Amino acid sequence: MKRMLSGIKPTGRLHLGNYIGAISQFKKYQDEYEMFIFIANEHAITVPIEAKDLRKNTKDLIALYLACGLDPEKVTIFLQSDVPAHAQLGWVMICMSYMGELQRMTQYKDKTAKGETGVTAGLFTYPPLMAADILLYDPDYVPVGVDQKQHVELTRNLAERFNHRYSDTFKIPEPLTTKVGQKIFSLQDPEKKMSKSAADPKGTIDLLDDPAAARKKIMSAKTDSLGIIQFDPINQPGLANLLTIQSVLTNEPVESIVSRYEGKGYGELKKEIGQTVFDFLSNLQEKYNEILKSGKVEEVLKNGAEKASYIANKKIRKVYKKVGFTL
Ligand code: TYM
Repeated sequence: MKRMLSGIKPTGRLHLGNYIGAISQFKKYQDEYEMFIFIANEHAITVPIEAKDLRKNTKDLIALYLACGLDPEKVTIFLQSDVPAHAQLGWVMICMSYMGELQRMTQYKDKTAKGETGVTAGLFTYPPLMAADILLYDPDYVPVGVDQKQHVELTRNLAERFNHRYSDTFKIPEPLTTKVGQKIFSLQDPEKKMSKSAADPKGTIDLLDDPAAARKKIMSAKTDSLGIIQFDPINQPGLANLLTIQSVLTNEPVESIVSRYEGKGYGELKKEIGQTVFDFLSNLQEKYNEILKSGKVEEVLKNGAEKASYIANKKIRKVYKKVGFTL
């Protein structure tokens, strides 16, 4: 069985972009692959975050993973900080990285280009930590949204560099992005990705949003004045985004939705999508509340940490020998 690994940062509430770009993919893959999914809490502190928020986000995230249909019998779900080998290999990967290549990473580049102050060294060095997250487990594939692809490319380079310098140690992983829904955009500014940190909350649908409020966000989503329902992400990005959301949540191909709406208006289409989102969130939140009450989160993390540590510790021992730490 091929192995797959991915992670998500508990920096804010999960949104529909995370669901479509990441979690819905994980769910599909859990039957075909040996999967490892972790909460990247060490990445969350690259920007200031209160401890109580980090705790809450972390717990919510795991409960949401489970509510979205990830099965802990099939997927190893764990917390990054429960496995110290991530930080240990992270340091080694930082030392394998060049300043120039980290300066080219978009997140860091964007923040410094905007002249943001208070950019931490952690934000600068987070891509090599991400490389460590991946390489500890020798996965064949890393499913991510397109925004993370650059980091998986860096991971491949660092793995090759290490293998070349010290001898074969890491498998070279492949990024895996899907065609539909690789990137979900803001409902208010369809040029920008839907994100936890977006300025306008009307642009983002959180998985824990009140379903009725989420429906309203769909109804007021920005479209265009062409008035034709077709899938044209270049000229009608807002409409294309809505069609993608509907397609992923209902499993109906975009072409089929488009043909059902031939000659009809945006209002009617938005009503259907609003209902889809309403139903999706209501169902998800009911499961989420049950899971939070059940104590399942703690149990899943305990088992996950054990399984993940076993593999990660073996790898870090190997690395420590190769670099000359072990006497
Ligand atoms: P994060 O937490 O920003 O995002 C988690 C996953 O969700 C995807 N995503 C999106 N997909 C579609 N549309 C969007 N609007 C959207 N926003 C986010 C992301 O591409 C990602 O797949 N550095 C990573 C976490 C991480 C990681 C790893 C991932 C740490 N170590 C190792 C994979 C492997 C991050 O910040 O993702």
